[in-house]
Amino acid sequence: MAKLLTDIQTELEGCRRCALSETRTNLVFGVGNPHAEVMFIGEAPGKQEDLGAEPFIGAAGKYLNSLLELAGLKREDIYIANVLKCRPPENRDPRPEEIEVCTPFLREQVQAINPEILVTLGNFATRFILKTDKGISVLRGQIHITGRFSVLPIFHPAAAIYDRSKEAIMEDDFRLLGRLISKRREERAQRVEHAQRAEHAQRAEHAQRAECTQQVENAERGLQ
Ligand code: URA
Repeated sequence: MAKLLTDIQTELEGCRRCALSETRTNLVFGVGNPHAEVMFIGEAPGKQEDLGAEPFIGAAGKYLNSLLELAGLKREDIYIANVLKCRPPENRDPRPEEIEVCTPFLREQVQAINPEILVTLGNFATRFILKTDKGISVLRGQIHITGRFSVLPIFHPAAAIYDRSKEAIMEDDFRLLGRLISKRREERAQRVEHAQRAEHAQRAEHAQRAECTQQVENAERGLQ
């Protein structure tokens, strides 16, 4: 049974599991719709996120918000969290030991939300979710299946802010996300319809059997 998000957050309160706790201002747990069909995973809080205790509220977050529209999403539709919950000094890359102690909580967040689709932003989130050493340039733009999740790796929005030539690719990938969401919704609707038809058929069969039994009983009574 998955833990509740509030319980996971309580467990992380005042976390001192790694040295990032000494330099952070706030732990950045994650935010959004707890029943989201799409969960985004970033790398680690930056300066604004560290101050505001919320993921993706700085420049990369503003850019991300503008891209969501291309997938037919609003910020309040999604849940968003990071591989690391605390800001690495000067925004350096997450270290293996930090990833090791922090990601069990991310795993629990994924289980609590149980989204249909995981969007991994950049190398660190993609490598953690897909358990791969391959880079984001190779993996982006394709839908990967892991367990019950569809995973769409996308460049980190900050990478596209630094390198504007990535903007068109980002837009393509968010349109692809929109198509993936539509496909998963259609599949879900088909599953519901299929289950309803099966239930209807079963009820009809029960009713028919009951009617037959009644007829046999009536006939037997007539013979007595
Ligand atoms: N970059 C990230 O990976 N996460 C944030 O929350 C902000 C910037």
